[in-house]
Amino acid sequence: ATERTFSILKPDATRRNITGAVNAVIEGADLRIVGQRRIRMSRAQAETFYGVHKERPFFGELVEFMTSGPVVVQVLEGENAVARYREVMGATNPAQAAEGTIRKTFSESVGENTVHGSDSAENAAIEIAQFFQASDIVG
Ligand code: CMP
Repeated sequence: ATERTFSILKPDATRRNITGAVNAVIEGADLRIVGQRRIRMSRAQAETFYGVHKERPFFGELVEFMTSGPVVVQVLEGENAVARYREVMGATNPAQAAEGTIRKTFSESVGENTVHGSDSAENAAIEIAQFFQASDIVG
């Protein structure tokens, strides 16, 4: 079924000026960018967004990184968009990511791994609502 997922192009992508190159991979995978905004994430936003990882040893580093520069938040739409985007992103650790995936092509480390994508349709709805008003998503 057609569904939506939430995506972030992380600060390593904006810093290296490769957001267009990443978007080309997204669109090449038949995902449509139906919402997109470039923002500077606040510490509070990052801490809320990554709340499930609060107890992880890398939490502080993760929040530092996500607030270190601009990010591009996106809503992607397509057939099985959640699973499709996770395929296109590749494994969290770029060293383990498959050939042709965004992380294999562009990412430098597990921390600076270029993109985020929701892990379920339920979380996608929660994450989209954190950053988008319904009127800013145009399918
Ligand atoms: P993301 O899908 O955005 O959700 C959690 C993030 O934590 C993940 O991408 C990684 O970027 C980050 N992460 C996971 N493991 C590590 C790690 N060992 N060190 C630093 N960051 C990590």
